[in-house]
Amino acid sequence: MRNIVTFYVTYLMCLFLGITCVVLVSHWNYSYRGGFAWDGSNKHFNWHPVLMVTGMVVLYGNAAIVYRVPLTWGQNKLPWKLLHAGLLLLSLIMSVTGLCAVFDYHNTNHINNLYSLHSWIGICTAALFTAQWVIGFTAFLLPWTPMGVRSLVKPGHVWMGAIILVLSIVSCISGINEKLFFALKANTNGTLPYSMLPPEAVLANSLGVIIVAFGLVVLKILSNQVWQRPEPAEDEEVYRPLAYDGS
Ligand code: HEM
Repeated sequence: MRNIVTFYVTYLMCLFLGITCVVLVSHWNYSYRGGFAWDGSNKHFNWHPVLMVTGMVVLYGNAAIVYRVPLTWGQNKLPWKLLHAGLLLLSLIMSVTGLCAVFDYHNTNHINNLYSLHSWIGICTAALFTAQWVIGFTAFLLPWTPMGVRSLVKPGHVWMGAIILVLSIVSCISGINEKLFFALKANTNGTLPYSMLPPEAVLANSLGVIIVAFGLVVLKILSNQVWQRPEPAEDEEVYRPLAYDGS
């Protein structure tokens, strides 16, 4: 019982931090960076951080922990598999749209593509995420995939899932930092330089810290063995509830 309560407290923390990330990244780009448009202007770029943080961190992190929610353990796994895959597909669509936003913006404004460390880490992360989704879908959702293949793929899938979250967070932190250095320069656009820590820098730095906190909470949930969905034995169709309360 104590484990279940601890889980839900941690889960609520995860939801709270996730919502805070989305609010902060939207507020930053709406109130300080001029809002949103799809016209090649700076407002076009602003979709990039919002969609990447919402898709590749918050939605992705929540999709990763779907199976850990004890309320779902007594039920058929298929709807939860579909929810896991569906949330990740939505996250993938948001991420691809977020990448289109920055590539379009660069191309319209004749800025080189893929020159920065941020863009190298980011594009590799997005490629790994796409591969992970396709392999996960093929291995776990296609009904004709043999059980042997599923058990072979599962440990790698779980490990790679956590690695992609870590890489997404690294991409976000480097992107936020890069944007602040680009945008907050003295005597250019009426803002104080980054080194003077204007309110925009406080907001964006805080966003970075909360993204890291969100990632740590998700990784804590993923790594706790006690919070893993109990899988029935192969010869057993019946669900076995959590049989212990040790920590
Ligand atoms: C998982 C999250 C993210 C990924 C995978 C990612 C990926 C990328 C990629 C691939 C580019 C290169 C686009 C091009 O060369 O045309 C890029 C550019 C950029 N991103 Fe991100 N990004 C992420 C999050 C963020 C966030 C949160 C910010 C914060 C503002 C940001 C800021 C930038 C900036 C300023 C550029 C343009 C300069 C450059 O190419 O480095 N990114 N991003």
